[in-house]
Amino acid sequence: MIPRTEHTPDLVSIKGLSVDIDTPEGTAHILRNVSMDVPRGQTLGIVGESGSGKSMTLRTMLGLLPADARVRGGMWFDGEDLTAMAPEPRRKLLGRRVGVVFQNPMTSLNPVVTIGRQMGEAVRFHLGYSKAQARELSIQLLEQVGIANAANRLRDYPHQFSGGMRQRVMIAMALTCSPDLIIADEATTALDVTIQKGILDLLQEIQRERNMAMIIVSHDLSVVAGRTDDVVVMYGGRVVDRRPTARLFAPPMHPYTRALSMAIPRLDMPAHTRLPALGGRPPSVYDPLLTEEEADARDMDRWSSVSETIVDDSASAPDVVAAGAGPTAGEQVIVGTLAAEQEAGVAEGGDAEVAHDTLYAPMAREDEEAGR
Ligand SMILES: Nc1ncnc2c1ncn2[C@@H]1O[C@H](COP(=O)(O)OP(=O)(O)O)[C@@H](O)[C@H]1O
Ligand SMILES: [Mg+2]
Repeated sequence: MIPRTEHTPDLVSIKGLSVDIDTPEGTAHILRNVSMDVPRGQTLGIVGESGSGKSMTLRTMLGLLPADARVRGGMWFDGEDLTAMAPEPRRKLLGRRVGVVFQNPMTSLNPVVTIGRQMGEAVRFHLGYSKAQARELSIQLLEQVGIANAANRLRDYPHQFSGGMRQRVMIAMALTCSPDLIIADEATTALDVTIQKGILDLLQEIQRERNMAMIIVSHDLSVVAGRTDDVVVMYGGRVVDRRPTARLFAPPMHPYTRALSMAIPRLDMPAHTRLPALGGRPPSVYDPLLTEEEADARDMDRWSSVSETIVDDSASAPDVVAAGAGPTAGEQVIVGTLAAEQEAGVAEGGDAEVAHDTLYAPMAREDEEAGR
């Protein structure tokens, strides 16, 4: 990883991004003033409940929105102003320099075409390679993502690979053009917990080896906590918490981040422990536009209403922990911070009183430091 200095300008920079889409039900305010940055060679985690706007943020950057979507705000990739680029050059730029791995490889892979042909087509399309060169590169990439007997496996169809192996194939395809940025959007969500850990470890290893930037998107805080430099927490289409990962659990924690962190099973919990979960429903895209202060005031009740609900009664705690951060720094931080908070009495319902400026102090400070 490259240490962050003023001389490493951000690879990705998103500033004040808003997206509205008109629907028969009214205007959907899908993104509400979203800002985030990814410095070169670093890893950003985007976390938040389903529907909070994580994927739409990335789709907006990648130019994959419906034609009638209204976009305001700024987006830069390696200093290029994406909002000023025509769709075609923009797709070309991002197609070569950004690799994306989605949750469900079966929807991205063609079921009736062999892996070799699908990989070969991608390589030849983007790099203009000959058939033989494309085959050679495909084998190398499959080997790099840990697929044994790669040359023979090129003849196989997607269904002949297990879920985890298919996701490895998708990673190999995402690496085709040696991208500067790899995006894993819920890339491991559908996988069984130990396989999930293997894929996340692989992504992290490749990211370090190739010195790429990475964005890991998950609804699961434990997936991003141990593997990222910075974390952005999204809620109702806006960014509610944004910090270096090392400070994500440092007091004063954001009440929503704290609620998310309490839903993570911990190593010291007995199997089938009831986990706290957020009650009620997150805001709707059709809710009116509010100021940050108004939205915080509206959301604070739900954020602090962590209630006793069974989140997952089937998996024992150690299994689930192994899926995400595992016994890594992130997990230790979560366990450590919650214990420390409990000792300090912070967890005893004190969060409702946390003032707006304490909540947002870390973000404001960062903005100041960065001269924004
Ligand atoms: N074309 C659309 N019209 C209306 N709402 C949409 C449209 N596309 C996405 N949304 C809504 O935008 C919100 C954010 O979606 P998304 O970014 O996919 O969430 P997630 O955080 O789970 O990735 C969701 O509530 C989704 O229903
Ligand atoms: Mg999503």
